[in-house]
Amino acid sequence: MKPKPRFSETLLTWFDDNGRKDLPWQKNKTAYRVWVSEIMLQQTQVSSVIEYYQRFMTRFPTMQDLAAAPIDDVLSNWAGLGYYARARNLHKSATILCEEFNGVFPTSLTGITALPGIGRSTAGAILSIVFKNSHAILDGNVKRVLTRLHNIDGWPGTSAIEKKLWHLAEAYTPNERCDDYTQAIMDFGATLCTRAKPQCPKCPFSKQCESLKAGNIAQRPQSKPRVSKPVKELWFVDVRNDSNILLEKRPLAGIWGGLYSLIELDRAYGFDELEDALLKEYKIKANLVELYNSFEHIFSHYKLIAHVVRVDGSIDSKTSSETKEGMQFQWHSPRNLNQLGLPAPIKKYFAREHELP
Ligand code: ADE
Repeated sequence: MKPKPRFSETLLTWFDDNGRKDLPWQKNKTAYRVWVSEIMLQQTQVSSVIEYYQRFMTRFPTMQDLAAAPIDDVLSNWAGLGYYARARNLHKSATILCEEFNGVFPTSLTGITALPGIGRSTAGAILSIVFKNSHAILDGNVKRVLTRLHNIDGWPGTSAIEKKLWHLAEAYTPNERCDDYTQAIMDFGATLCTRAKPQCPKCPFSKQCESLKAGNIAQRPQSKPRVSKPVKELWFVDVRNDSNILLEKRPLAGIWGGLYSLIELDRAYGFDELEDALLKEYKIKANLVELYNSFEHIFSHYKLIAHVVRVDGSIDSKTSSETKEGMQFQWHSPRNLNQLGLPAPIKKYFAREHELP
């Protein structure tokens, strides 16, 4: 039996047939041009980068042009690409290289990673693509390919998994054609071993892919473990008189500042204590009508579970009332709810109750 070809050989054969070879940064490969492309391609897809890259290169054809430009000019050429720290770091690095290194791009991993905004993977990509030195890369695409191939359990953001992945990435990187290999593994991850629709039947590694064997491709790489948020439970009271709804205009500072919401009560009150609590806290004379379904809303720091009760009620002033905490109560006709600023879950609640279209 013939020995199995090595991973890199199989991948390079796949690349020869399927890889991308006409991208703008693949022509006239200088350190500067590849560096700019790799920074733009961080967290951004090729299709979104191409136009920006071409415009950027026309405006800043050399590292000296970039270093000499005002930062505002650099940022305005980056506008729309997002993650603007990338542009600031690019500009800062160009300035450092021009002022301290005679405009010569470093050729060692330590020299490159010393520049602001360039990590080990980007440095590896530049070294292999431009200087054809054998250096591994480990971007999101490569992490996905390797965690699937080896069915690696655990979130790649942890240092233990990342260490394992770097070890594999280095073991697979060949000495020959390392420039093509770097492009190949990125292309393979971006076009075949994709996150949402991997094309396993077309994959040259389908027989050796541990994750395919285990049937858990969709769970590789594993996502960041979710930390469950603290839960806050409240009563939300929908107070009605003959034709209007009582709303609370919330204080400007704080959650839902300036928006109109339902009256809130501490969940520590029992259902049968709510009438007394409304009178005590808000001077609302109320008759409980019914308990509605609860709704949930996720804030950045906690999950709110709102238990809604509907009451018939009246308050001392028919128009508006100032409470001790500076909250304003206002009666509003259901017809006017659309014109008010309502928090999304309150809007949803009224829509469910047919008060809003
Ligand atoms: N993502 C990061 N670098 C890339 C490159 N050189 N080609 C395609 N996608 C990339």
